[in-house]
Amino acid sequence: MFHPDLALPVACSIAELRDRVSEWRRMNLRIGLVPTMGALHEGHLALVKQALESCDRVLASIFVNPAQFAPDEDFDAYPRTLESDTEKLTTAHAHLVYVPNHREMYPEGFVTTVSMAGPALGLESETRPHFFTGVATVISKLLIQVMPDLAVFGEKDYQQLMVIRQLARDLDLPVEVAAGRTVRETDGLALSSRNVYLSAEERTRAAKLNVILKEFADALHQGAPVAEAQAQARHQAEQTFDHVDYIVVRDAEMLNPLPSGPLKCEARVLAAIKLGKTRLIDNMAAPKA
Ligand code: PAJ
Repeated sequence: MFHPDLALPVACSIAELRDRVSEWRRMNLRIGLVPTMGALHEGHLALVKQALESCDRVLASIFVNPAQFAPDEDFDAYPRTLESDTEKLTTAHAHLVYVPNHREMYPEGFVTTVSMAGPALGLESETRPHFFTGVATVISKLLIQVMPDLAVFGEKDYQQLMVIRQLARDLDLPVEVAAGRTVRETDGLALSSRNVYLSAEERTRAAKLNVILKEFADALHQGAPVAEAQAQARHQAEQTFDHVDYIVVRDAEMLNPLPSGPLKCEARVLAAIKLGKTRLIDNMAAPKA
């Protein structure tokens, strides 16, 4: 379906999507997919740009996936801005936006879920036990519907990225999963669709998350023992934010906890905190000394 008031073709059903994509496939074009939940910002657009560097055609999907929200989370309030999202995707030179129809994604009687262990255990799953099953299920569906050559995900959601890499490996999905660097505001706050929920005062404090993580990663890089550096980072985070879900260092691949001494492998520091009602996550590399 082509919306005359929107600059970019929009596919709203699996059939429309497949029509478009199979035409590209017949032309032997390399296809890139950027899955999103909309409310697009520069972080999302950087993923589109990255996909365009190696693909002939790039599509973004926009679907606020109910399966990854808990009943007490912000599914209803999640910002929905399709028109401006489409404009941004047009400016970013995407070729198609796929906005799946909810009833087609989860028709009545839908009973299949993709549940994962490994990198999906712990961290986000501690407070959001439903989350990665929802993500893995919807990403499996999107990858099977589109069958892209490349799919790009942000390092901003590092655990999600590791989960999706594992999912593609385990299910033999013929897709290259690429990581996009985290795009930040000038004060270091990672761009997020949820930043709009922050009050002015919370927004100022939010920038400290990146500072605390950077100091944590630097301390580890300089040889500080894991247990000590982690306790120090937690202390700082607790002083600054209203609640700390976690602030930890894990191995960069499987996200396993590390021994308490100095780093002996490539690692990642990761945190989830709350400012008022808003939950923010961030992470960065902690290279071994
Ligand atoms: P959403 O939060 O919309 O994010 C879509 C993609 O943008 C994800 O890969 C995310 O990591 C990336 N992203 C978000 N903020 C970013 C930033 N500041 N810099 C770079 N990339 C950033 O993540 C989801 O949606 C959903 O869970 C989804 C994977 C679409 C499944 O429903």
